[in-house]
Amino acid sequence: DPMAPSPAGPPAPPPVRDWPALDLEGTAFDPVLAELMREGPLTRVRLPHGEGWAWLATRYDDVKLITNDPRFSRAEVTRRQVTRMAPNFAPRPGSLAWADQPDHNRLRKPIAGAFTVSAMKRLRPRAQEILDELVDGVLRDGPPADLVERVLEPFPIGVVCEVMGVPAADRARVRAWTREIISTNGAEAAGRAKEGLYGWITATVRARADRAGEDVYTLLGRAVARGEIAEEEAVGLAGPLQIGGEAVTHNCGQMLYLLLTRPELMARMRRRPEARGPVLEELLRWIPHRSSVGLARIALEDVDLHGVRIAAGEAVYVSYLAANRDADLFPDPDAIDPDRDPNPHLAFGNGPHYCTGAVLARLQTELLIDTLLARMPHLALAVPADRVRWRRRTMIRGPQSLPVTW
Ligand code: HEM
Repeated sequence: DPMAPSPAGPPAPPPVRDWPALDLEGTAFDPVLAELMREGPLTRVRLPHGEGWAWLATRYDDVKLITNDPRFSRAEVTRRQVTRMAPNFAPRPGSLAWADQPDHNRLRKPIAGAFTVSAMKRLRPRAQEILDELVDGVLRDGPPADLVERVLEPFPIGVVCEVMGVPAADRARVRAWTREIISTNGAEAAGRAKEGLYGWITATVRARADRAGEDVYTLLGRAVARGEIAEEEAVGLAGPLQIGGEAVTHNCGQMLYLLLTRPELMARMRRRPEARGPVLEELLRWIPHRSSVGLARIALEDVDLHGVRIAAGEAVYVSYLAANRDADLFPDPDAIDPDRDPNPHLAFGNGPHYCTGAVLARLQTELLIDTLLARMPHLALAVPADRVRWRRRTMIRGPQSLPVTW
C-alpha cells in the first residue's frame, strides 16, 4: 500500500519549483513538466497566480490513486487561494468540477442521460448534418480555408447547442457569447459575455420546469422543479457544458496539425480507415491538451505517499499529461505509435471528475477526421508547418488557425 505511513518518518520535502506559464509552440511537451517528471514522483510547484505552493503528482499510478480518493477534495479548494495557472478564480455553485460527493452525484444525476453512449448514437446523424453543412460551405468557397474558423470552432458549438437544447432563434447569441468567453480578447469582454450567457441560461432553465424533452436545459428545469438541485446550481452546472466544446476545437486542431505534418501517419489513416479508432486514441494520449495543470485538490487528512507526507490542508495537482507519458505504462512514451495496445490513457481524466463530455468529444473527433479525410482527399497545409500560429496565454493549447488546401 503506497499510502501506508512510512516507518522511518517523512524525509525533508522536495524544493518548491516555479512553473511559469509558457507559450509553447506547436505540440511540444512542456519542458518544465518534463523536468518535474524526472525530479520525482512527487514534487512541489508554484504557479503564476494564487498563493503558496502545491504538490504535483506525475506518475500514472499516483494520478489514478489521487483522482479516485475522497481524502482529496475539490470543494475545499473553493475556500482558498491555491497556487494556480489561471489569473481569475470564481467557481460557481453547481459546477461539477468543484463538487465532492454526495453533491457531485446529486448534480450529475439529472443530466447524465444526455451524455451517454446511446444518447450520442441518437445525436450522430444530426451532428453529421451540422458538419456537412460547414464543409459544404468550405468546398463551395474553394481553397485556401482556415479550418479552425470554418469548421473546428463552429462544429462543436453547433453540436453542443443541439445537446443542450438551445432554440434556433437563440443560437447566434449563444454562439457569440461562447466565442467571446473562450477567445483571448481580454477579461473584460469575456466577463460581459459570461453575464449575458449566464442570464440567458437562468431564464431558459426557469422556462423549462414543466416541458417534455431530453435536452440538458429541460432536464435541469425539471430537476429544479422537483427540488433536486437549486436553480443557481443548475446554472453553474450548465455553463461549463455549454462552453465545453472548446476542448474539441483545440484538441482536434492539434490532431489535424499532427496528421498534416506527419505524412506516414496521414497515409496510415487513409490506408486503413477501419482501424482509425486506436490511432485517434493514441493521438488523444499524446497531444499536450492543456497548458500547465488543471484544478487542484486539497488533502482532507494526512496522506503518506512514496515516503512523503502530504499534510491535511495541503494542495495537490495531478498531471494527466505526465501520466500519459509514463514509460511504465506506455513504452517509448514520446513516440506516436498507431499500433499501441493496450492504451489506457487518461486524456479525459479519471475518477468521479472524469470528463462529462468524453463520449461527445470522441463522437465529434471521429466525425471530423472521417469527414475531412473523405471530402478533402488531398488535404494539406496551405502554409509551411512552422508558419502555423498557435494560441497564446491560454489554458487549452491548439492552433490559432489552420490554413489548408485540398
Ligand atoms: C472535465 C478533458 C471535451 C465537459 C475534464 C477533465 C479533462 C477533460 C482532463 C478533468 C478531469 C478532472 O478534473 O480530474 C477533455 C478533453 C476533451 C473534452 C481532452 C476533448 C477532446 C469536453 C466536452 C465537454 C466537456 C465536449 C462538454 C460538452 C467537461 C466537464 C468536466 C470535464 C463538465 C468536469 C467534470 C467533473 O468535474 O465532474 N475534461 N474534455 N469536456 N469536461 Fe472535458
